[in-house]
Amino acid sequence: MDEALRTKPSSRKPKYSRFTQQELPAWKPILTPKWFITSFVTIAILFTPAGLLCLWASEHVVEIVDRYDDDCLPDSYATNPETFIQSKNTNKTCVRTLKIPRKMTAPIFIYYQLDNFYQNHRRYVKSRSEKQLRDPDDEDETDDCKPIENLNGNEGGPIVPCGLVAWSLFNDTYKFFKGNKVIDIDKKNIAWESDKKYKFGSEVYPKNFQKEGLIGGGQLDESKPLSEQENLIVWMKTAALPTFRKLYGRINTDLEANETITIVIQNNYNTYEFGGEKKVALSTANWIGGKNDFFGISFLAIGGVCFFVAITFILLYVFKPRPPGDPTYLSWNRNQPAQ
Ligand SMILES: *[C@@H]1O[C@H](CO)[C@@H](O)[C@H](O)[C@H]1NC(C)=O
Ligand SMILES: *[C@@H]1O[C@H](CO)[C@@H](O)[C@H](O)[C@H]1NC(C)=O
Repeated sequence: MDEALRTKPSSRKPKYSRFTQQELPAWKPILTPKWFITSFVTIAILFTPAGLLCLWASEHVVEIVDRYDDDCLPDSYATNPETFIQSKNTNKTCVRTLKIPRKMTAPIFIYYQLDNFYQNHRRYVKSRSEKQLRDPDDEDETDDCKPIENLNGNEGGPIVPCGLVAWSLFNDTYKFFKGNKVIDIDKKNIAWESDKKYKFGSEVYPKNFQKEGLIGGGQLDESKPLSEQENLIVWMKTAALPTFRKLYGRINTDLEANETITIVIQNNYNTYEFGGEKKVALSTANWIGGKNDFFGISFLAIGGVCFFVAITFILLYVFKPRPPGDPTYLSWNRNQPAQ
């Protein structure tokens, strides 16, 4: 570049810099067979043990899943489950026994799992009022909550929390027994700390909730602020997929292998109407989280594919080599005085 242009301030040309002139040094790798094979072998060597480690960790998580919605329906109601679930007079208690396959170390997480429940439906997800959940002065902000806004049309005042998401709160309950002894369930700290602190107000109390019309789900304790109703907070973190699990509570004692535990379920929640399924799941956790083979399998797949590619290229390189272009002719090599 011309020295005069470079320094002359009155020039309309932009100030010279290596960045604007695209003269920054760049790495221009040449994929010679050796480079190529080495990088693929390295990736294979890194990913295969990582995959095995993840699978091993996932294998050590003990998980028990029990589907109960169909078994907990009395035979006499087999053809009209909706009558059973909506009636106030039917006995919805249901007893399940489970055997612990391997020792489960505390904390043991209890989840309920719903299948075919679209919490991600557009009209459902939107039917809530963040303002109302947060601030007691915004009780009347129910415009987003269609169709669950106010009691008796508009006469009875706002429903707190309003909207379909809250209205459909899951209301099955579980009690766990070992023989005759109750196993305590810890239901504290099952929701996100940030939700409790910022999204659900500590001065907002439930009002007019599940009071008229078709009851959608669980009741709320009107003497407790929303920030302490952790089952509601967990429920209102809507799931992205139609099959989801939500944390119900925690068991803080170990369960030994071969022990039999009894779960007494109140089968309240209506999944019969839309062909959903209900399951209760018990699971331990370690550094990988719950039981999940995804990381293990995908790491192994990456490792395997890279290994396969590396082997293929080694064979090609050994048996059918093709002379690559001469890198000394490359522009940036040619300009070097050494060449
Ligand atoms: C539980 O929810 C269902 C709707 O899924 C409702 O019909 C039933 O009345 C509720 N029961 C209780 C005890 O809250
Ligand atoms: C559990 O039962 C199986 C089969 O009955 C037995 O082989 C195993 O040793 C038992 N485990 C424990 C910890 O009691």
